[in-house]
Amino acid sequence: MSKPVSIGVIGGGLMGRETASALGRWFALDGFPIKAELVAVCDIAEKVREWFRQVPTVKLITADYKELIHEPGIDVVYVAVPHHLHEQIYIDVLSAGKDLFAEKPFGIDLSAALNIARVVDVSARFVRISSELPFLPGAQRVIQFVKSGALGKLIEVRSGFWHASDLDPTKPVNWKRQVATCGEAGVMADLGMHVMHIPFRMGWKPKRVYAQLQKVYSQRPDGKGGMAPCDTWDNAMLHTEFDSDGAEVPMRFEMKRLAPGETNTWFIEILGVDGGARFSTKKPKTLWIFERGKEQIWKKIDVGHASVFPTVTGGIFEAGFPDCFLQMWGAFVAERAGILEGRFGCVTPDEAVLSHKVFAAALASNESRRAEPVRG
Ligand SMILES: NC(=O)c1ccc[n+]([C@@H]2O[C@H](COP(=O)([O-])OP(=O)(O)OC[C@H]3O[C@@H](n4cnc5c(N)ncnc54)[C@H](O)[C@@H]3O)[C@@H](O)[C@H]2O)c1
Repeated sequence: MSKPVSIGVIGGGLMGRETASALGRWFALDGFPIKAELVAVCDIAEKVREWFRQVPTVKLITADYKELIHEPGIDVVYVAVPHHLHEQIYIDVLSAGKDLFAEKPFGIDLSAALNIARVVDVSARFVRISSELPFLPGAQRVIQFVKSGALGKLIEVRSGFWHASDLDPTKPVNWKRQVATCGEAGVMADLGMHVMHIPFRMGWKPKRVYAQLQKVYSQRPDGKGGMAPCDTWDNAMLHTEFDSDGAEVPMRFEMKRLAPGETNTWFIEILGVDGGARFSTKKPKTLWIFERGKEQIWKKIDVGHASVFPTVTGGIFEAGFPDCFLQMWGAFVAERAGILEGRFGCVTPDEAVLSHKVFAAALASNESRRAEPVRG
């Protein structure tokens, strides 16, 4: 086995800790040829830094990200901070000569994403962006089904991500609910990359967008006894089209923070004249496959644990969020080492920039009340 890949994390909040958890059970990837370990953490919050003291491989804990990125022993930096900080920190990571595992949406807006992408190009560092849900076994089966050609001529694509906790008006505001820190794209910046990863990877590039964006709650408790503005879009429905086999195919992206009863429901449905596939984290074991034979049948299949890389977990056991997050990290490390070998990979900088172009067209459409082209 080659030398372990040493990873540093900037931003040890929700996703920083999820990364520590994934790297901490790297041995669950059965026969994976490269080791990866978390060696350094940066967060401005002392309480967050304290949590990482329990991780045995971590040697550097700092409040200054510049100290982390200049640490010679670190190969890859994973950055999970609020969106308004992406551009500066991502560029600094690349300029320090480190590979970057970036969080979505890859900059607070299109201009930031383009600036980061320019530095990626000149730096020649390995850069990918996080999106883990396509690594769930059911989602992987959908991808395999599409690639098999069994769908025939495409009819339509629907991809979505729904949350519900914002329905509670007493939920305090946070940086994801304010334009200054989340971005004008709001819920799209938060959930958009997740719904676009598979469609973009299948080559389905939206030409036009008709967007319906909703702001339902305009303020929320500030956590200090007062109220604070909550000025991001809560829900976004994007009606798009892409070209396939000489025809335009409708594709709908649904991103919602106000979807009654839904806790992290991510779904994809792809329909063709000969076959179809449907998967949702609502029923994470269940894969639906449509076959048009003499009779038209939707088959319901219980999928097991098999994803992109083999693991020690029994094949019939259920997969969950920590499993797809580990698989995504496996894909990052494998692709960086040039051994992805046709397996499904993490979001590329080009795909992240394209997502921002779709968000920009959506914002323009919501303004003009017309479909707007996805430019560039
Ligand atoms: N892949 C996913 O499923 C997923 C899920 C949630 C969030 N995200 C993305 O991850 C990123 C972070 O989101 P989160 O939910 O983990 O946020 P969070 O608020 O839980 O954590 C952010 C952390 O960054 C720290 N931080 C802020 N400024 C910093 C600085 N200058 N230097 C070092 N640390 C700093 C904060 O103290 C906090 O601990 C965002 O880009 C978000 O869109 C991805």
